[in-house]
Amino acid sequence: MSESKHGVLIVDDEPVNRQLLRQILMERYRLSFATDGVSALEAGVKVRPDLVLLDIMMPGMDGYEVCRRLKADPVTADIPVIFISALTEIDEKVNAFNSGGVDYICKPFQREEVLVRVNTHLKLYSLQKALQQRVQEEVDKRRLDEQMLVQQSKMAAMGEMIGAIAHQWKQPLNALSLTIQDMEIAFDVGELDKQYIEKSVKQSMALIKHMSQTVSDFQNFLKPSTHKDRFSVAEAFYDVAALFSDQLKKDGIELRLNPPRTLELYSSGYINEFKQVILNLINNSRDAIKASRKSGQPDDKGWISVDIEEANNQVVVRLRDNGGGIDQSVIDRLFEPYVTTKGAGGTGIGLYMSRAIVEGKMEGSISAFNTQGGVEFVITLPLI
Ligand SMILES: Nc1ncnc2c1ncn2[C@@H]1O[C@H](COP(=O)(O)OP(=O)(O)OP(=O)(O)O)[C@@H](O)[C@H]1O
Ligand SMILES: [Mg+2]
Repeated sequence: MSESKHGVLIVDDEPVNRQLLRQILMERYRLSFATDGVSALEAGVKVRPDLVLLDIMMPGMDGYEVCRRLKADPVTADIPVIFISALTEIDEKVNAFNSGGVDYICKPFQREEVLVRVNTHLKLYSLQKALQQRVQEEVDKRRLDEQMLVQQSKMAAMGEMIGAIAHQWKQPLNALSLTIQDMEIAFDVGELDKQYIEKSVKQSMALIKHMSQTVSDFQNFLKPSTHKDRFSVAEAFYDVAALFSDQLKKDGIELRLNPPRTLELYSSGYINEFKQVILNLINNSRDAIKASRKSGQPDDKGWISVDIEEANNQVVVRLRDNGGGIDQSVIDRLFEPYVTTKGAGGTGIGLYMSRAIVEGKMEGSISAFNTQGGVEFVITLPLI
């Protein structure tokens, strides 16, 4: 493995045994010695050997106890321990393994046997350490990737929100500006009395209240749900529609929510996260519909249609559109991160996050397939 020698700690109260093991191992390994249990534990922490050869019968603390304590200390727990003893009873061997040893060598020992066993366990130990490190690195990397994805999708959602707020503010902002200018005109022509001012203030305040409500609605929308809650699936769709259907209309797209708002199909889960899923799907449909128009397939009337029903103790949501369907190149990898056909216009995390929410957090499922002229997404959620 490595060019630097592995360290082996030899623990034995008999000078003869230490001497013998020294002769066998000194050429290949960096050796350290302990003559009793207590100093073995100290050396274990201080020297951090790669392997311990441990005598069982020692005055004071015996080998089993030393091994148990090595295994109990996180600093030394991983170091492989090979027992060395003249005791050959099966019970002794079982005890040795039970207290955490990886192997057992009987005295009087053979030079070759000691070398082979020590070498084997050192190799295993190195492999195990390398593997652990690889796994840890991979876990760290995944966690970072995951955090970045979540961050990106938050930013994307935020962008949507700002767009939607800007859109919803246009009309009241305009009305507000007219009201204020109107006061100046009224003053110029001598109509501005107390009553006029009261009326104008009242109008302005109503507009401002409406604008402020819009911001609160979006703030609530972005807030992560803190706990699972019972929610009406139909209502979640109507909530999203309330915020975004204006914009869709502007793009010439009709959002058809077929089930009545009062449909009593409840699921349990994170409602705000679920609304994000709805928004992701709606945005994808909108993009597809707009793109299909561009590529010269004239289907002027864009639509997104939602049905909700109960089946097999589940709430089943079907969202369909007439945006031309999913590109064959991505249809098998739709829910993987960074899969997008939109170039710089898409990050490819919308559906990945949607699946993470529906399947990872809400015990549901999400799938997609092409229909004639568009796509159908099917979401199932547990029915309450
Ligand atoms: N309704 C749909 N119609 C046609 N294609 C779709 C539809 N929904 C998704 N797709 C395809 O699936 C791909 C992945 O969608 P996803 O929402 O994960 O990412 P994106 O929309 O490209 O980017 P992002 O949502 O991160 O901005 C899209 O690029 C598109 O090719
Ligand atoms: Mg998307």
